[in-house]
Amino acid sequence: MTERHTWEDSISRLLQKALSHKETYTVPISGFSVSIHPNVYSPKYFPESKWYGQELEKLIEPGQDFLEVGVGSGIVAMHVARAGGRVKGVDINPDAVAITKKNFAQNGLCSEGRVVGGEPRDSSYSSASQSPSEVNAATAAISLDSKKGHQEEHLPAADIRVSDLYTALEPSSRFHYIFWNHPWQNSSAVVKELQTEKTLDEGYKALSRYMTQGRDYLHEGGNGAVLIGTSCYADLKSLNKLAEENGYRTEVQSQGGSLLEDGTEEVYYILRLVDLQEKP
Ligand SMILES: C[S@@+](CC[C@H](N)C(=O)[O-])C[C@H]1O[C@@H](n2cnc3c(N)ncnc32)[C@H](O)[C@@H]1O
Repeated sequence: MTERHTWEDSISRLLQKALSHKETYTVPISGFSVSIHPNVYSPKYFPESKWYGQELEKLIEPGQDFLEVGVGSGIVAMHVARAGGRVKGVDINPDAVAITKKNFAQNGLCSEGRVVGGEPRDSSYSSASQSPSEVNAATAAISLDSKKGHQEEHLPAADIRVSDLYTALEPSSRFHYIFWNHPWQNSSAVVKELQTEKTLDEGYKALSRYMTQGRDYLHEGGNGAVLIGTSCYADLKSLNKLAEENGYRTEVQSQGGSLLEDGTEEVYYILRLVDLQEKP
């Protein structure tokens, strides 16, 4: 059996385990209490999410604006919020958005009842009554508080939205960093367990949109970048070609790895897209 086949076998078993949960379950990861909906990518079984979170926690400066695409359970975004980043998140899966909001709330990273884009807990709350700038200011406050290791009365809202990539963001939104632990597979020739929106992006079509539209959401001259969380089991050759076609070159921001439950090794990368279209 090739290394690739061994990995697909191992991942298929883990995906089946993740799917065998009938209800939301909660696990401790990196000092967070993380609830995971059975229909959401599970950091209990897939260790790269924690690794990306830990790497980004080191990279982000307090007060920097951070967008996570594809939040899943919110584990990556929570690391960034703990480091003081002003976090927004999107996911195409409504279950992921709901569970991420719950995780931000239960880890003291947002205020209950002021969550944007979803069901408020406080019945007097109306999302129309809160402008995007109020939301930003609130988000800034929590981020800085969490870096100092204490929480104040007025926690910010967690701005997590159901969205196909950037579509639900205000066009004026700007970030220092944008990150996506993207679905690594790009061909439906993979085993059927890997053929979901969490793990398969046929022809890397969504990844291409992520790259090309991402530059419009970066702060000008902000030293930030569009980042990609990927691995040795993604199609790195196609990914690099796509980056080139979209006017970037890739640089390895961080490299690391982890073992799956059965000892199968995975190597992870955070790639930085260096924009070749940017004026010097
Ligand atoms: C590999 S999972 C990563 C989840 C989480 N960030 C983590 O690391 O545990 C990829 C995520 O991207 C989301 N996704 C897939 N296509 C998307 C799209 N077009 N727009 C937004 N999110 C998308 C999936 O729903 C899934 O939550």
